[in-house]
Amino acid sequence: MKFFLDTANLDEIRQAAALGLADGVTTNPTLISKEGNVDFKEHIAEICKIVSGPVSAETTSDDRDVMLKQGREYVKIAPNVVIKVPLTTAGLEATRILNEEGTKVNVTLCFSAAQALCAAKAGASFISPFLGRLDDIGDNGLRLLEEIIEIYDQYEFQTEVLAASLRHPIHVIEAARMGADIATMPFKVIDQLFNHPLTDKGQAQFLADWAKSGRK
Ligand code: E4P
Repeated sequence: MKFFLDTANLDEIRQAAALGLADGVTTNPTLISKEGNVDFKEHIAEICKIVSGPVSAETTSDDRDVMLKQGREYVKIAPNVVIKVPLTTAGLEATRILNEEGTKVNVTLCFSAAQALCAAKAGASFISPFLGRLDDIGDNGLRLLEEIIEIYDQYEFQTEVLAASLRHPIHVIEAARMGADIATMPFKVIDQLFNHPLTDKGQAQFLADWAKSGRK
């Protein structure tokens, strides 16, 4: 399973990269806006210097032609840029065209298996089902993920399943058990994945016993 950072914060991306846990990055307009008054293209370029895997740059229009214009512009930022478009009529049309031009597209804001099937047929390289946002409204994000993986496996679609809107380690572990290709998560969830109080307690005890024994 690949781990993507769901952030546009350079420090967090550097920290995850140092841990060997940043196979890619997914940004969105909200995450970019949290970074203040940065220049979008320059910021994506900075991220691409830290991470060699796919870095999603999201289009910011409901209009297909504007999506195409932005996508064609953003893809020139770095060879690992992936264009992110919403799962709308215009987004699917843009996906088909960009895919035919050889550009990788991450189709985002996916909330149903039917949407995921359409995205794969349109030529999406990645599909991003939003697990946490479904859970937030009392639905079941993991069940959606399971449905998408099952459907894609039946037809051997090449679209990678990118579990998104992950809120906690259980989302990540269950997604891994199902065989999701990628999990994208905030740095906080990465931290929660490997930090364990019993590891810290055990290590503190080992160091204390070593010191007590008088060894250097
Ligand atoms: C994915 O690409 C999105 O940026 C992200 O996972 C959305 O997560 P949120 O629901 O926590 O905003």
